[in-house]
Amino acid sequence: MSAANRSRRVKVITVTGGKGGVGKSSVSLNLAVALCRLNKHVMLFDADLGLANIDVMLGLKVDRNLGHVLRGECDLADIIKDGPQGLRIVPASSGLKEMAELSVDQHAGLIRAFSSLNEDIDFLIVDTAAGISDMVLSFCRAAQDVLMVVCNEPTSVADAYAQMKVLQNDYGVQKFKIVANQVHSLAEGKTMFAKLVAVTDRFLDVTLELVSCIPADPNMKRSIKQRSCVVDLYPQSPAAIAFRALASRALTWPLPEIAGGHLEFFVENLIAHGAED
Ligand SMILES: Nc1ncnc2c1ncn2[C@@H]1O[C@H](COP(=O)(O)OP(=O)(O)O)[C@@H](O)[C@H]1O
Ligand SMILES: [Mg+2]
Repeated sequence: MSAANRSRRVKVITVTGGKGGVGKSSVSLNLAVALCRLNKHVMLFDADLGLANIDVMLGLKVDRNLGHVLRGECDLADIIKDGPQGLRIVPASSGLKEMAELSVDQHAGLIRAFSSLNEDIDFLIVDTAAGISDMVLSFCRAAQDVLMVVCNEPTSVADAYAQMKVLQNDYGVQKFKIVANQVHSLAEGKTMFAKLVAVTDRFLDVTLELVSCIPADPNMKRSIKQRSCVVDLYPQSPAAIAFRALASRALTWPLPEIAGGHLEFFVENLIAHGAED
C-alpha cells in the first residue's frame, strides 16, 4: 500500500510524568503491546534522549537511530525495529537533540520521511525521558492524549504537578490522563489521584482523569529480565490485567477529527511548534 492510500488516522499518546523511575517506559511498552494484542497497529517512539530504553528492555540491537535519518545516513524505515506482537519501534535517542535544532530543509525532510513511511498505524505511543525539557513538553503538546504516570511518593506527585503547571502555562495543555502506577490497592490509587486533583483544582486550570491504577507487581521486573513485558509473559498477573483494561479504554478515546490526523502531521506539529519557541 502506498503512503498516499493511508486511510487511518493516528492516535498519538505521549507518556510522561516528570520523574525518572515512575514507570513511563513500562507503561508505554505494556500499553503498546496490549493494543497490538487487540489487533491494532502500534508504533512506539522511544523519545528518551541519551538513555537507550525500550530497546534495552526488549534486548533489541539498535545500531542506528533518528539522528542517522536526520543526517541523511539512512531512511526512517531502516531504523524501525520489530517488537513483540508486531509492535513497531522507532529508536530516537540522540536524534532528538538534533530534532530540536533542525533547519527548514531538515524539517521538511523529516516530515517527508514520516509521510513516505509505508505503514498504516492506529496508535503512536511516545515514551518520554524524565524531566521537563522542551522536547518532552513538545511531545506532550503535539499528542492528543497525555498520560501522566504518577507513583504514590511525594516527589512523583510534586514532579507531575510541576510538569502539568508548565504544560498548562506555556504550552496550553489542559487535559491529563493520570495513570497511578505501582499502587498496592485501588483505594491507594484513588487517594493519590484525589490529592493531585486537590492541588491542581486550587492552582491550575486543568482537567484530570484517572484512567488506570496499575498494581505494584513483581512480574514487571521479572518480565524485563527476560527481555519481554508482563502482558506477553505473565498475562494473568495483576499488572497485565490492568494494562489490558487501559488498552481497551484507550480504544474509546476519540480520534483526531481533522483530516491531518496522520503520522506526518504529528511530526509537523511537533517541530513547527518547536521552531516558534
Ligand atoms: N507496576 C509496577 N510494579 C512493579 N515494578 C514496576 C512497575 N512499574 C514499573 N516498575 C519497575 O520500576 C522500574 C522503573 O520503570 P521504568 O518504566 O523504567 O520507569 P521510567 O521510564 O519512568 O524511568 C523498572 O525496574 C520497572 O520494572
Ligand atoms: Mg523510561
